[in-house]
Amino acid sequence: MIVGFWIAATGLALVLFLTVHLGGVGMALVDPTAFEVYATSLHHQSWLPWLEFALLAAGLGHPLLSLQRARANLQARGPAAGPLRSRRQGPWEPLAALAARLIPWSGSLLLLFLAVHVLQLRWHRPSAGAELAAVLAVLQEPWCLALYAVAGAAAGLHLLHGVESAGRRLGLLEPANAAVLRLGGRGLALVLGAGFALLPIALVLSPAVARVAGG
Ligand code: HEM
Repeated sequence: MIVGFWIAATGLALVLFLTVHLGGVGMALVDPTAFEVYATSLHHQSWLPWLEFALLAAGLGHPLLSLQRARANLQARGPAAGPLRSRRQGPWEPLAALAARLIPWSGSLLLLFLAVHVLQLRWHRPSAGAELAAVLAVLQEPWCLALYAVAGAAAGLHLLHGVESAGRRLGLLEPANAAVLRLGGRGLALVLGAGFALLPIALVLSPAVARVAGG
């Protein structure tokens, strides 16, 4: 199914972006001065507009194709159809089942967050050396801090189901490697979810970040 392939491919491209993005913004906590240098150098790369264009295509294509597939599934299986249930047993399975059920909601929340986030930090790009001050100004608004933390948790939940599902769609999930891929996907979801949920709080509380952001 070509739609399923593109949902998986765009989803995995977004996971790759999120992994690099967490590394980039995580640098702000570990070494705030290095983060400013990194942000300035990134903004001068000639390939950046192409990367942003690809990101926009994946960010819009992924939810639109998912919506189209959900509508087609509903028509094929009738209005009473819910998500297919897994019969697997294990300590993670209740959370994985919840993540599968909530996938349209976690995805919608992420889309809403992204609209706010891109307007705040990308639409008006801060001048060189002022990236951290802009990030901190956003995160110091209590509703923004809450939104960023909840969006981080939603990203983790979305990926808990999404990474494994994408692996299956792309034909990567074989009986021989299923357990390893599932564990890897869930580990990545946990790292990205916990990272993006906790990082905003850590940035607001860090005296070193406040010092560099204050100029
Ligand atoms: C701790 C939480 C986060 C912080 C501090 C943060 C910080 C930033 C900053 C500073 C930028 C602007 C980059 C630039 O000037 O080039 C940015 C862009 C962006 N962020 Fe985040 N971000 C966070 C979480 C997230 C999450 C959870 C997502 C996705 C679900 C996300 C998706 C994006 C996207 C799509 C862009 C636009 C990239 C571009 O066009 O260059 N961010 N973020």
